[in-house]
Amino acid sequence: MSKLVNKSMSTKRFLIINGEKVETPKYASLYSPYSGEEIAQIAMADKDLTIQAITAAYNARELMAKMPAYQRANILEKVVALLKEKADEAAEIISRESAKPIMFAKAEVERTIETYKFSAEEAKRIHGETIPFDAAVGGVGRIGYTLREPIGVVGAITPFNFPMNLVAHKVGPAIAAGNTIVLKPASQTPLSALFIAEIFEEAGLPAGVLNVVTGPGGIVGDAIVEDDRVSMVTFTGSPSVGIGIRNKAGLKKTTLELGSNSALIIDKDIDIDQMIDRCIMGAFSNQGQVCISLQRVYAHEDVYEQFVAKFTEAAKKLKIGDPLDPDTYISSLISRGEAERVLGWIEETKYSEATIVTGGKLQDGILEPTIITDADHSLKVSCQEAFAPVVIVNKVSSVEEAIGQVNDSRFGLQAGIYTNNVKNALYASRELHVGGVMINDVPTYRVDQMPYGGVKESGTGREGIKYALEEMTEMKLVVWNQS
Ligand code: SIN
Repeated sequence: MSKLVNKSMSTKRFLIINGEKVETPKYASLYSPYSGEEIAQIAMADKDLTIQAITAAYNARELMAKMPAYQRANILEKVVALLKEKADEAAEIISRESAKPIMFAKAEVERTIETYKFSAEEAKRIHGETIPFDAAVGGVGRIGYTLREPIGVVGAITPFNFPMNLVAHKVGPAIAAGNTIVLKPASQTPLSALFIAEIFEEAGLPAGVLNVVTGPGGIVGDAIVEDDRVSMVTFTGSPSVGIGIRNKAGLKKTTLELGSNSALIIDKDIDIDQMIDRCIMGAFSNQGQVCISLQRVYAHEDVYEQFVAKFTEAAKKLKIGDPLDPDTYISSLISRGEAERVLGWIEETKYSEATIVTGGKLQDGILEPTIITDADHSLKVSCQEAFAPVVIVNKVSSVEEAIGQVNDSRFGLQAGIYTNNVKNALYASRELHVGGVMINDVPTYRVDQMPYGGVKESGTGREGIKYALEEMTEMKLVVWNQS
């Protein structure tokens, strides 16, 4: 197998605190998940350095709160322009550090640009509303309105799977709202976050507004979550870490975007050919390391065999290999340990009624796209979040039965249904217990301005710039007594 990941990027990368690059006593090697080569030496912050970063953000918050909306929007617009210029470099960073195939890394950069663009636009639209005080007897003679004020210091903890765009979903609205930030990027993918911080500096963001602290989650993350000067924590990652954050955050606001085992329902009388490409993208893009990755398919018995045959045929054609090869569709999972975990889950299915139709093993260290049929609900590949290119396909005899299966989950992020029957579409949109229902699409659909978030163990709060801005501002009421 050719290894295109060979250009050495192995340099020391520092913390960014109060606009300065800050050294640390310890560094950790960052390795390419694909080639295993060292690509950088990453500064490991301790608690004191994290507190320094929080202090910098805390001290910068008044300056930021007073910055007019047009100036905040201008900075974000400059970030958009700079990122457009550096789009190829940005995509390569994502691909090298996360093994995201370059075609998907490029798409992520395009989305990141849009996310900052939406942030720039929303910065100018923050507004409150007037309240009809005289609707209450005690309100006669008063007028009043609400204002939206910046919340203060936002602690942002971001995941490895979209290392640039999920940083943008936190940093973009935080700056649009006039907040300051302490960002802890995923340990596996710090380079995308550091790259973005440099772009913000070039765009004229004042020192102290965006601080980036790399290091162990247990130390850096905990220091951010537990510090009283941090007013809000926004986190994307696993449910177990999310629940830990919630327990430690006290009265801080928390937005938690957690995992899922997202599902798709396929009704009868559907043209299977029109949906195969979407199902391939949904199940296998980014190696399935997407919170809304298609992990469970419930197909009506009338179309089940046809779907399994066509989906399997398409999955077998996907190119596996080097993430920097423009034709690669599937590359390495984020770590060897993750591959071992998923192989264990696949192994478990062999002792059940399930059938591995394709995949199920490593090819040059890369997990093949894997389709499993007749998987019982209790199997880990069904009921837990796989976060891997693994999808189960089960047969159902009605949409009602399928909805019951979809809802029988700890998670509830997004779900999809392909149907030509309007009644079934309406029924599904009403009955599915999730944050978003996609009619005639896979659950793996997201554009960056839409509300995004889940129910049950998939989290609390919503992202999508306008919605994140609501979470990142405080409502203040002003009442005038005219009597
Ligand atoms: C996620 O994995 O939660 C993000 C999915 C996306 O932004 O497409």
